[in-house]
Amino acid sequence: MADVLAFVLRFLHILAGIAWIGAVAFSLGVVRRAMGRVDLDARRRTMRQLIPVAIRYVPMAAVSTIVLGVLLYLHMGRFDAFLLTGTPWGRLILAALVFSLAAFALGMVLVVETGRRILTHLDEPACEHGPEMGVLQKRFNLGQVLALALGLVVVALMIEAAHGYLS
Ligand code: HEM
Repeated sequence: MADVLAFVLRFLHILAGIAWIGAVAFSLGVVRRAMGRVDLDARRRTMRQLIPVAIRYVPMAAVSTIVLGVLLYLHMGRFDAFLLTGTPWGRLILAALVFSLAAFALGMVLVVETGRRILTHLDEPACEHGPEMGVLQKRFNLGQVLALALGLVVVALMIEAAHGYLS
C-alpha cells in the first residue's frame, strides 16, 4: 500500500514537473521564436489570448509540482527528522525545494506580473508605449530563462537524489 502511494505521488509529481518546466522550455524554444516571424497585428492578437492562459496554467503546474514533491519527500523520508534533514538525500531534496521556490517566486514576479502589465498595453486600442513594451518583453523573457535554468538545476538534484536514495 505504501509503495502504491509512493508510486502515485512520484508519477503525479514528475508529470507536474514536466508540465511546469516543459511549458517554460516550450515557450522559450518555440513560441518566442515563432512569434518573431508573425506580423505585429497577428502577434498582438495571439499574445492577448496566450498570456492569460499561460499565467494561470504555469503557476498551477508549479504549485502542483512543489506540493506533490513535498508530500513524496515526507512519505519517502517516513516523516523521520533524521532521514529528512540529516542524510545527503534529505539535504539534496531540501536544496531542490529552495531552488524550486526561487524559480516559482521569480516566475511570479518576472513572468506572471510582467505578463499582466503587457496585457494592459495590448488591451489599449492604440498603444503608444513601444519602449515600455520592449522593457516588459525583455523582463518577461529573462524571467522565463531564469526559471528554466533553476528548473534544470532542480532536475539534476532530483536525479542525484533518486540515484542515492537514503544511502
Ligand atoms: C522544478 C521542480 C521539480 C521537478 C522538475 C522535479 C522532477 C523530478 C523528477 C523527474 C524526479 C524523478 C527523478 C528520478 O527518478 O531519477 C523527481 C523525484 C523526486 N522529487 Fe522532484 N522535482 C521538482 C521539485 C521537487 C521539490 C520541490 C521536491 C520536494 C521538496 C521534490 C521531491 C522529490 C522527491 C522526494 C523525489 C524522489 C527522489 C528519490 O527517488 O529518491 N521535487 N522529481
